[in-house]
Amino acid sequence: MRKKIVAGNWKMNKNLAETETLLSNLKTKVGNVSGVEVIVTPTFTNLYKAVEELKSVDITVAAQNMHQSENGAFTGEISADMLKSVGVQTVILGHSERRAYFGETDDLLAKKVDAALKNNMTIIFCFGEELKDRKNETHFSLVESQLKNGLFHITEDNWKNVILAYEPVWAIGTGETASPEQAQEMHAFIRTTISKAYSQEIADEVSILYGGSVKPNNAEEIFAKPDVDGGLIGGAALDADSFAAIANAL
Ligand code: G3P
Repeated sequence: MRKKIVAGNWKMNKNLAETETLLSNLKTKVGNVSGVEVIVTPTFTNLYKAVEELKSVDITVAAQNMHQSENGAFTGEISADMLKSVGVQTVILGHSERRAYFGETDDLLAKKVDAALKNNMTIIFCFGEELKDRKNETHFSLVESQLKNGLFHITEDNWKNVILAYEPVWAIGTGETASPEQAQEMHAFIRTTISKAYSQEIADEVSILYGGSVKPNNAEEIFAKPDVDGGLIGGAALDADSFAAIANAL
């Protein structure tokens, strides 16, 4: 049975004191949500503190990004080994903001995927279409190409380390959430695409999260769809009550 997951993408928010406050509230509110894996992603400077603070509860700490190299002259970057050294074994890769603002291509992401898998990390692999793609009705082919070019070089065994996050870019941070039907249609397409490239067993086992303006008032209907296995939450993850309401909607 594939996992139900609610992950909070904190993006570039919360200094150390603010992180401590949010973590303290999250420990109380989502420390042990039965049947749901809860993931939080503080910024790099706060990861160690988060791992320490959350040791006593069932909340996974993940990073928002990582470099594809083991180490070296890459000013400002963080490697998989450095993340593991502070107790972080999960990492978001391919977020649309990384693709848009930092020029992360499918080819680069394929290298980051390889580095993460080499270090036995769990990957939350993000992808999704722009509004222009959906208006042109090329959103399915775009999503398929992001998967094939960034991820489908991995082995069957690697899939146990993969969580997928479909995030239509036009829904991120806009309040313009995809309808439950739109989410289900794309998630079912993604699962079929995986089954054709790999196997039905792998397709059925992988958790596919939806991201893009998930809020307490829309989470339940989106999560009720058969191929939606949870959410990758941005803005609402920065408030413990909102994030808890979403986690409990799963
Ligand atoms: O990675 C999740 C994020 O992109 C969604 O953001 O604020 O629309 O929930 P938001």
